[in-house]
Amino acid sequence: MHQVTFNFADGASRSFDVAPGEPILNAAIAAEIPVLYQCQSGSCSTCVAKLSDGDAQTRAGASSTLLSSEVSDGLRLLCVCEAKTDCSFDLAYTSEAGAERPPASQCLRRLGRAGRQQCRAPET
Ligand code: FES
Repeated sequence: MHQVTFNFADGASRSFDVAPGEPILNAAIAAEIPVLYQCQSGSCSTCVAKLSDGDAQTRAGASSTLLSSEVSDGLRLLCVCEAKTDCSFDLAYTSEAGAERPPASQCLRRLGRAGRQQCRAPET
């Protein structure tokens, strides 16, 4: 396990554990971290974050819209990224931004399956 910390733009920080090989976004959703995302497949860039400490790399075989220069600058797409060590990311939005997303169960009722990507993971 690696510990990953998200540093939000409002100064809030949240840490959670990520299993080896697990996408960081999946672990964040499971830990109910207020993270923004949509496609979960490396194509929309909604989940972009800047690696500020440690090592995290794009998963082998995963697609990513980031340029190699952006990766060199520390940007990562959390949905296709795995932690190689304990690491920290800076997020460009506040901790309240992700928390404002309605739960997936409400989205599914209001928007149908097409709305699921706009919603948070279901509560467990
Ligand atoms: S959620 Fe779309 S690129 Fe990560």
